[in-house]
Amino acid sequence: MTDKDFIPSSYTTDIREGKVTYKSPSNIALVKYWGKKEHQIPANPSISLTLDTCATTTTLSYKKLKNKGSDFSFDLLFEGSPKEDFKPKISTFFKRTEPYMPFLKGYHFTIETSNSFPHSSGIASSASGMSALALCLMELERELNPHMDTDFFKRKASFLARLGSGSACRSIEGDMVQWGFHKDTLNSSDLYAIRYPYKVHPIFKNYQDTILLVDKGTKQVSSSLGHNLMHDHPFAEQRFDQAHKNLTKLKRVFEEGNLLEFIKIVESEALTLHAMMMTSMPYFILMKPNTLEIINKIWAFRASSKTHVCFTLDAGANVHVLYPENEKEEVYQFISNELVAYCENGQYICDQIGNGAKKL
Ligand code: PMV
Repeated sequence: MTDKDFIPSSYTTDIREGKVTYKSPSNIALVKYWGKKEHQIPANPSISLTLDTCATTTTLSYKKLKNKGSDFSFDLLFEGSPKEDFKPKISTFFKRTEPYMPFLKGYHFTIETSNSFPHSSGIASSASGMSALALCLMELERELNPHMDTDFFKRKASFLARLGSGSACRSIEGDMVQWGFHKDTLNSSDLYAIRYPYKVHPIFKNYQDTILLVDKGTKQVSSSLGHNLMHDHPFAEQRFDQAHKNLTKLKRVFEEGNLLEFIKIVESEALTLHAMMMTSMPYFILMKPNTLEIINKIWAFRASSKTHVCFTLDAGANVHVLYPENEKEEVYQFISNELVAYCENGQYICDQIGNGAKKL
């Protein structure tokens, strides 16, 4: 498919007004997306676990305007109150997606959104937020074009979410999702994410992710800036190549349930992501001293307990602690006895692999 396949030729019905709500989860990448080309095309493929608890719920109310406006018309409410500082991001999203949703300027929208995770927890809400909004808009498009099939609906929702925030395209479905073309993954695309189509060993079912909130402040460097710094980065090509290779290796790991290999790839990906930040120009560090304390504790505990606990990081200081469900009790004891002390105000979130976005 190309991006032209997402431009509708015409709409068959006339919809005056309506309302739709979606709850869409966040996701955590195992192979990281870091670096992009024009139009939100990833520099390398990535794969993620869809989360369950960390989610955004968005209600979109729409009302057809008498005359199509010259600009987008919308109000935004975050947790019940108007939120002006979120509006530029939504405007950019509308601008980027208008060629694929030509109805956008014909409606007034009210977007009401809220997160399941604590406000300013340092958890990026862009993946869950942009995917929830993309799904609501697709629901309106499906009303305008009632014959749309479900596969196209999901694919286009992912395509649109990508234009809001790259990683958001991986939040439409569960439980393991790949975004970006890879030679060994059938139907993989840079334009949208797909459910990982190969065999996954039952050990990965209900995989646990406890998110340790090390630093709840806003990041000093945004993801978009970080992605841009991969242009002219001295290690960019090697890094993109490594991501392809890690995906190839993971195929076998997923099939066989080889957790020792899984851990090596996942932790190396997390550290490489941060190594890219530290070696860009300008360079920057998003980890905090407590991030490193936690990593060292995880390594020591893994060696002594023979469990398969490991960590991954997103573009921040928080640590995602990953482990199989059958080790839940032992690892959870360890987290509460030894790791919670490194969290800001002792805060953490217990999450696990989930099934993707839901219409409410
Ligand atoms: O979707 P963005 O532009 O916020 O980028 C997300 C990048 C990482 O979270 C660091 C990695 C990933 O693949 O999710």
